Amino acid sequence: MTTPRPSQRLTIALPKGRLLSQLLSHFEEKRVSLSFEDRKLIAEDKEGMFKAFLVKNNDLPTYVNHGIAGLGICGTDVLYESGHRFLHLLSFSFGRTKMCLAGKSAEEQISIPPRRLQVATKFTRFTQDYFHSRGIPVQVIKLEGSVELAPILGLAPYIVDLVETGDTLRANHLKVIETLTEIEVHLIANAAFYKLNYERINDIVERLREAQGSKE
Ligand code: PRP
Repeated sequence: MTTPRPSQRLTIALPKGRLLSQLLSHFEEKRVSLSFEDRKLIAEDKEGMFKAFLVKNNDLPTYVNHGIAGLGICGTDVLYESGHRFLHLLSFSFGRTKMCLAGKSAEEQISIPPRRLQVATKFTRFTQDYFHSRGIPVQVIKLEGSVELAPILGLAPYIVDLVETGDTLRANHLKVIETLTEIEVHLIANAAFYKLNYERINDIVERLREAQGSKE
């Protein structure tokens, strides 16, 4: 791969939080050296490929949709919630998790179910669409986090949330009732940005695919 001039760096949004360290170590494995100095939110890799922005997970689709970042790395849960359309270039092997319906164990549920399934979740768009597409009436209650509290405190009998190890559910005496979908981490692109930079982006996709054994 030829080293681009600094002005040709591809812009990429990366998510703050638990994904970041896995993502950067995968970059490192494939000789893309990127690190964010203390509290800094913009970084450039030593190889001259990327100008990277560290953004809050839920804001990442907004930056890519507006073309501020041409590329982004993000979970399909967050991408779906954004409602925006992107090119999906790669699926990574790290960060895979499941979106589940969970609640108290069956015997603890109320015996006469309400007319509508009451679900507390951060993922309101997904939850509405999932149950509507199956003809199940649902009332979705939006929360920003600590969703597991909802069944315990009586806000809603069910939650839709990500389950990785299952530790949070177990610690709060909740169970997975059904796995609704698998969540993956994708490399995405703004379509217009891809059109303008497809050769270099394709090079990078090949490089990262090889590094991570990831699939398209
Ligand atoms: C996520 C998710 C669950 C938990 C699942 O929460 O919403 O609460 O992780 O992980 P586990 O199955 O490995 O226990 P996060 O840590 O992002 O915090 P939040 O409750 O503020 O959303």
